[in-house]
Amino acid sequence: MRIDVLTLFPGAFGGTLDTSILGRARAAGLFTVHFTDIRDFATDKHRSVDDYPFGGGQGMVMRADVLDAALSHAVALAGEPPTVVALTPQGEVLTDALVRELAKQPRLVLVCGRYEGMDERFLEHRVDREISIGDYVLTGGELPAMVLIDSVARHIPGVLGDEQSPEDESFADGLLEHPQYTRPAEYNGWEVPSVLLGGNHAAIEAWRAEQRLERTRARRPGGAAARLLARVHSRSCSRCCNGAALRSCRANVCW
Ligand code: ADE
Repeated sequence: MRIDVLTLFPGAFGGTLDTSILGRARAAGLFTVHFTDIRDFATDKHRSVDDYPFGGGQGMVMRADVLDAALSHAVALAGEPPTVVALTPQGEVLTDALVRELAKQPRLVLVCGRYEGMDERFLEHRVDREISIGDYVLTGGELPAMVLIDSVARHIPGVLGDEQSPEDESFADGLLEHPQYTRPAEYNGWEVPSVLLGGNHAAIEAWRAEQRLERTRARRPGGAAARLLARVHSRSCSRCCNGAALRSCRANVCW
């Protein structure tokens, strides 16, 4: 996969993309990241990339003409037509499903905003998707772009190595992960749940399934979690209620 990033701060990406799994994956050529400095496409002598908002209001808006020129430059750097993503708090929220969809694209262009946002005409005419990493506002799109790159890269074959798979993790089946423990078995009076020490693999799997359900119910309440739990209920919970109606689940892991 090729990722092009349009930003005013290419230097902000260094540590994250060079370190650990992402650093090794890039060195191995599993994906590449290329930067376009938006300021290089400013046309006035002050090299300005933003201006006051029409209609008044606080802050500055990134100019459509500058963003347009920077994007055209980045798109022409390779033959593959990209999916163009703008990182903005107004975008659709990044989820595991969206990450998986993006990971299938051969090429992404990520546009990082600063100031009060980007001129809407640029978003309308040049951007395929606006994506937010959550309902809070950051000072710019650089951290969200790094979050997106990290989450997408993990789905590129080879990035996690053979023994690890994104399929084994939280969200692969719509549920949060069960708790994990390692040695020592007792520290400071803090004990590991005894089922994990007993070597009964069926019991361990049942305990973990119950933990995943219970955590999802407690930590992701609301419609989406309820629907997900309803779907896995008959599969994971047949042990206690034989797939009967959710409300009759005796293990109290469904509701
Ligand atoms: N830019 C500022 N805040 C953001 C957010 N939450 N997601 C994506 N881009 C942003």
